[in-house]
Amino acid sequence: MPESIGFSGHPAQSAGATLATLRAAALECTRCPLAEGRTQVVFGSGRADADLMFIGEGPGANEDASGVPFVGRAGTLLTQLIEGIELTREDVYIANVVKCRPPNNRDPLPLEIAQCAPWLDRQLRLVAPKVVVTLGNFATKSLLETTDGITKLRGREFPFRRGGVDAILVPVLHPSAILRNGGKALADARADFVLIKHRASSLVP
Ligand code: URA
Ligand code: SF4
Repeated sequence: MPESIGFSGHPAQSAGATLATLRAAALECTRCPLAEGRTQVVFGSGRADADLMFIGEGPGANEDASGVPFVGRAGTLLTQLIEGIELTREDVYIANVVKCRPPNNRDPLPLEIAQCAPWLDRQLRLVAPKVVVTLGNFATKSLLETTDGITKLRGREFPFRRGGVDAILVPVLHPSAILRNGGKALADARADFVLIKHRASSLVP
């Protein structure tokens, strides 16, 4: 099991090696029915010891084809928002609540989320981010265990403890929703990213 692998040497390298081991195991996962329809598991990408971790809903068609989260149009916008606060995708870690594409991009079902949760828990524990950013309504509801909507929650800070992680969580609009709504949604997202950057820097020792 990944947890039993000892940490030695540089902590970041060890976390990276262990995340690689976890990834290799996840790529074979058939724990839930989404395994049947996927092309490949989209585990996550970015820096193994990132201070900032973004969590989306689940892979779409582009991600299912490439194996990398957020690479379609929404992904391009996410990349631009990250670069807008003078970071790159390589500085942060990006993952999804479920790792395999739901058929026709439907919302993941409770059983699928529950079966996939141990992968996300282990990712959270290994990356140990200071700030967790949930992208959109679905990831926010799933991680904050709230029924409040994203328009009410976005840009606010919540304490987040899960999988041994003690962080703050900031919900933001999903990049797909920003693409659909434009204007004010984009301005709101940009403002939320400035807050995220500020919180991540102020929490780094
Ligand atoms: N939308 C998501 O929630 N995740 C992805 O990886 C891509 C699009
Ligand atoms: Fe496994 Fe998660 Fe993919 Fe389901 S969605 S098969 S639990 S990796």
